[in-house]
Amino acid sequence: MAEVNSNSTSGIPSVMKAAQQNGYGDARNVLTLRDDVPVPRELSSKQILVRVHAASINPVDWKVLNGNMSLITRFSFPHIPGKDVAGVIVDVGSGVKRFQVGDKVYGNLGMSDGSFAEYARADESAFAIKPNNLTMEEAAAIPLACETSYQALFTKISPPIGEGSKVLICGGSTATGLYAVQLAKAVGAYVTTTCSQRNFGLLEKLGYKTSQTTADQNQVHIIDYNEKDFGKELKGQNYDVVYDCVGGQQQWTSAQEVLKRNGQFITIVGDDTKSVVSVKAIASVGSSIVNRKFWSVFGSLHHNYIMHFLIPNFQNLNDMRTKYIETGKVKPIIDTVFDWRKDGVESLYSLYEKSKSGKAQGKLILKIADEE
Ligand SMILES: NC(=O)c1ccc[n+]([C@@H]2O[C@H](COP(=O)([O-])OP(=O)(O)OC[C@H]3O[C@@H](n4cnc5c(N)ncnc54)[C@H](OP(=O)(O)O)[C@@H]3O)[C@@H](O)[C@H]2O)c1
Repeated sequence: MAEVNSNSTSGIPSVMKAAQQNGYGDARNVLTLRDDVPVPRELSSKQILVRVHAASINPVDWKVLNGNMSLITRFSFPHIPGKDVAGVIVDVGSGVKRFQVGDKVYGNLGMSDGSFAEYARADESAFAIKPNNLTMEEAAAIPLACETSYQALFTKISPPIGEGSKVLICGGSTATGLYAVQLAKAVGAYVTTTCSQRNFGLLEKLGYKTSQTTADQNQVHIIDYNEKDFGKELKGQNYDVVYDCVGGQQQWTSAQEVLKRNGQFITIVGDDTKSVVSVKAIASVGSSIVNRKFWSVFGSLHHNYIMHFLIPNFQNLNDMRTKYIETGKVKPIIDTVFDWRKDGVESLYSLYEKSKSGKAQGKLILKIADEE
């Protein structure tokens, strides 16, 4: 049953500034920025209302906006986009146990009404306490990308990576890849990654020594994918895991050259980098997964093929915070902070366009309010 807690909601306006999606297409055609969007003040017992300080964009946001996933993401318009969020709780439903008003939180709102707004409402399970060593903008850079890599490397593969594992990460400069490199290094793995020359500095900025020749535990081995095919470069080197944050059939083809017998290939993109979800695409993905699973059982090398989709879980966010973020082992890298208070709707368009370009060097942030 929805409720309005009149005590704690005092001071919350009835309308807010928010992005609104009015159909499927290019950001400039379907997104507006309005000042008169009702604040979602009615909360069910498990929901919380957050004053959003910062949000971040992920490729799924422009894929959803384009309509690439409209078969599985049906919502009514106008819809507030955005998933990653960091902010302060301003109201809680009567059954909320884990939080109270004033808590600073971060989270991933999933496909519900989103974070590109001054206030966001969602179930408490979408949130965890924000890492205390990060600003709101840094915290908003974490949830979706970091949790995807956390789950891929620690919960979706068996055995999970650990001390001494040999791990190849396809796309070390992608947001997911940057977190994967750090998580893998944090547990003592040998890490090799593919990355263009212009982005080598990102890994150095994180404090790693880099080498273009070998993988050892004190450095990150980088292969410039514009110059070399990692399959040829690392042929026969018996990697335990290839984690693919780039997509395309070639990653799987090359991975088979480098994985050990029973090695694991886990991809978060699959063969289709645009992630268009259609009945035909689902059938094609299904048949290629079945085919690869068949060969993982009956082929001589038993390479396991796993397609991973993030399932948000606040316990992962808690674990990431205490074990990796607050200990300084995992840090966000931010490319640009956009601010609609300065640049209006253009900041939203630039946010989407830069993400869609596939050239971001770290996370793209939307700043919504100053920290108190
Ligand atoms: N399944 C899931 O649950 C899930 C979750 C999160 C993300 N994803 C997907 O994972 C992919 C990556 O997302 P993201 O946010 O991490 O990406 P991102 O940050 O937007 O990636 C941008 C980076 O990718 C690099 N790049 C482009 N092509 C490359 C290639 N062939 N090899 C290596 N690096 C390349 C670019 O640099 P250069 O061009 O200079 O190399 C740029 O630095 C997206 O397709 C996204 O939809 C899936």
